[in-house]
Amino acid sequence: MTLILGLESSCDETAAALVDTNRRILAHRVAGQEAEHRPYGGVVPEIAARAHVDRLAPLVEAVLADAGLALADVDAIAATAGPGLIGGVMVGLVTGKALAHAAGKPLIAVNHLEGHALSPRLTDAELAFPYLLLLVSGGHCQLLLVEGVGAYRRLATTIDDAAGEAFDKTAKLLGLGYPGGPAVERIAQDGDPHAVPLPRPLVGSAEPHFSFAGLKSAVARAAASGEHRTADLAASFQQAVVDCLVDRSRIALAACPRATAFVVAGGVAANGAIRTALADLAHRFDRRFVAPPLWLCTDNGAMIAWAGAERFAAGLTDPLDVAARPRWPL
Ligand code: KG4
Ligand code: ZN
Repeated sequence: MTLILGLESSCDETAAALVDTNRRILAHRVAGQEAEHRPYGGVVPEIAARAHVDRLAPLVEAVLADAGLALADVDAIAATAGPGLIGGVMVGLVTGKALAHAAGKPLIAVNHLEGHALSPRLTDAELAFPYLLLLVSGGHCQLLLVEGVGAYRRLATTIDDAAGEAFDKTAKLLGLGYPGGPAVERIAQDGDPHAVPLPRPLVGSAEPHFSFAGLKSAVARAAASGEHRTADLAASFQQAVVDCLVDRSRIALAACPRATAFVVAGGVAANGAIRTALADLAHRFDRRFVAPPLWLCTDNGAMIAWAGAERFAAGLTDPLDVAARPRWPL
């Protein structure tokens, strides 16, 4: 059994967790920054980096105290090394390096996307490689065949905005504030998903790529017409995203008969309507559907610790001079 401390700071959540190779989550904490960014209607990188500086060390102390452990009990330290807002990534990675150096433990530089991609295996011991992954977050929208630790085949990506970005921009233009995804989902519950005619970009095309920019512009035009209730706009937008994700995933599922399961991860996977529609799709393809619990979908330290645990088990550690990377495709 190996115990990993995981650190996450690539966007607007500061997070730390202790996870072992037996899938036990000994402690995990997330400190959000919503109050700091809300006045600006989105994440301000400089404010985020400063908030990570203030919060990360106390969070590490807190998770160790929660678990009744000391740094010396940890076997390795995993930190997000990218992709993300570079100031924040540097704060987490430098903290991880300092702890690794001070405690004389190995460092594992984790790709944030790999954290999301492997997170379903933390809570589902049965989930075996290869699996088809729909990774939908604020910065990414991809379909990946996860063949093993460090072995990811990208089948599709977005040609413009990510799904979470579309939620955030739509929330902003509907005046629903930040963070956008949960706000759109909440108000969509009171709306009619078929009230506003909106496009489904790329639906029906042969390659399973995504596009959301045209959808967002169409929502903006519909909102400007003044003919629709905000709840109907939100519900119709959400339905259009659901239809795009389902159609694109359908193409990928048909192309991946070897995939043992259809898995969704990333912040947008917290959306109830999206989860339900994707579960239906998996069922139609007679494939297991796996979605991590909601807290594990949005950014957190446990997914970084778990990706660290998987990498450590595969003998993958990193030197202390490993660089932070703002861009880092899987
Ligand atoms: O994975 P994540 O926490 O951070 C990134 O790595 O990007 O994803 C954040 C994204 C944001 O765009 C947020 O609006 C979206 O996930 N999100 C949601 C929901 N909760 C978070 N989108 C739709 N419905 C939700 N309930
Ligand atoms: Zn993320």
